[in-house]
Amino acid sequence: MKATLESKIPILPTHPAQKPPLEPLYRQVYRSLRQAILSGALPPQSKLPSSRELARTWGVARNTVLEALELLAAEGFLEMRPASGTYISATIKSEIQSKPQKVRPSPTPPLSEWAKRALEQKIEAKSSTPITIDFRMGNVPTSLFPAEEWAASLKVRSKDLRGLAGGYGQGLGPLETREALCEYLAKERGILATPDMVMLSSGSQGSLDMLARVFLEPGRSVVVEDPSYLGALQVFSASGAQVIPIPVDHEGLHIEHLVEKLVKGVPSSQIPALLYTTPSHHFPTGAVMSVQRRLELLEWAQNTGCWVIEDDYNSEFRFDGRPISALQALAPHLVIHLGTFSKSLAPALRAGYLVAPPELIETLSATRYLTDRQPPTLDSLALADFIRSGGFARHIKRARVQALERLSTLRAALTQHLPDWQIKSGGAGLHLYLELPPYLLEREVVARAYAAGIALEPLAKYAQRVPTNGVLLSFAHLEPAQIVQGIVGVAGALE
Ligand SMILES: Cc1ncc(COP(=O)(O)O)c(C=O)c1O
Repeated sequence: MKATLESKIPILPTHPAQKPPLEPLYRQVYRSLRQAILSGALPPQSKLPSSRELARTWGVARNTVLEALELLAAEGFLEMRPASGTYISATIKSEIQSKPQKVRPSPTPPLSEWAKRALEQKIEAKSSTPITIDFRMGNVPTSLFPAEEWAASLKVRSKDLRGLAGGYGQGLGPLETREALCEYLAKERGILATPDMVMLSSGSQGSLDMLARVFLEPGRSVVVEDPSYLGALQVFSASGAQVIPIPVDHEGLHIEHLVEKLVKGVPSSQIPALLYTTPSHHFPTGAVMSVQRRLELLEWAQNTGCWVIEDDYNSEFRFDGRPISALQALAPHLVIHLGTFSKSLAPALRAGYLVAPPELIETLSATRYLTDRQPPTLDSLALADFIRSGGFARHIKRARVQALERLSTLRAALTQHLPDWQIKSGGAGLHLYLELPPYLLEREVVARAYAAGIALEPLAKYAQRVPTNGVLLSFAHLEPAQIVQGIVGVAGALE
């Protein structure tokens, strides 16, 4: 069969709106012909018009057509027969051609149980409602990000990538960065660690995900504070493990509840694998865990074998006196300490770390290797320089001054415009927790403020079982004038 198929030659998508942006012309020719072959419009073994004719038909250069034909031949759609012409390949199966092209195979492969649980976590979409002042959590002050210093360090360190043996870096992150972190953590947080106990991570979320992979699965359990950080709750729930909430009071995690619930009469197979806590500054109430509670918690962990995850977020932002030492400093053999540069530098860097007892490092490294091999070397080296040069300490000092100024503005505005709201935190961190007077309901307050273009968060968003009547105000990313405008706006919305 040697018919030529002029009438079946597809029309090129010439209308600019139809073109995928920036697709080269030869790609358009290629795609149009491939589609015509796959749909059966150009059947196997039929002969194509000459490249000259095709070029004329489409009004394109002959070279453009030749490029497309060569690509189709290389992929097996066409056969170029010397001294005869170009033919649609005989091996294109006719049943593929005759069947209508479907976007998805049917039935689609089922999602894994993990993916189904991940989808259930209701990751919040950004709202399209216009917001004038946004006090919601997750807003981070980035105006002071030391862009020039960071860029200079990246430039210098780029050359190091040339000398990197094997091209890849180290699984835990560059030794220099882990050494710099150990020095910093010993000085600022009283942490006892050697570089081989430190792994750089893509922020706290990366650390939490890794720990969940290593320790959690259906049939296991993890203890969390109630209320607690959503990033942790979500990754733990996605693991399929049972999440056990334990209430928090002004001294932090209520150990008595923990002991009551998890020691008396509980078989050892049901002892939780992990306990997640924010002892330096409870998320989101700001409570600092007392020394008594710390010791009780560690004793419980020692007796049960449960690993304690200490999330030390925001410890750089302490406004009244020096930061309290990390829990890890009391028991490096029981505690996995997590830190992040999301608040102190920028969340977009995705830079964090974990400090773990040495016996866990091999497992964590193996997990890391399968997940994403290693932390990004260049960013990690820039971080080492930034810490060692004193740049990080200087930056934190400036950021703390700015945050404190904004906190003072917020406190003054609250005292003046919402005097019945009780400020329950404020010694540290970049948000305030406020208890509402009994005549106000948190859901209603949030809804009325929202309608006035001001976004706050209800405490209930982070609670599992404990009753709540409070709101959270993230403030450090807002200018003082915006803070006042927001509080005046909330007061007005409640009148
Ligand atoms: C309790 C807590 N931990 C950690 C983080 C930071 O997470 P990441 O390092 O994944 O950005 C936050 C950020 O909001 C947080 O509130």
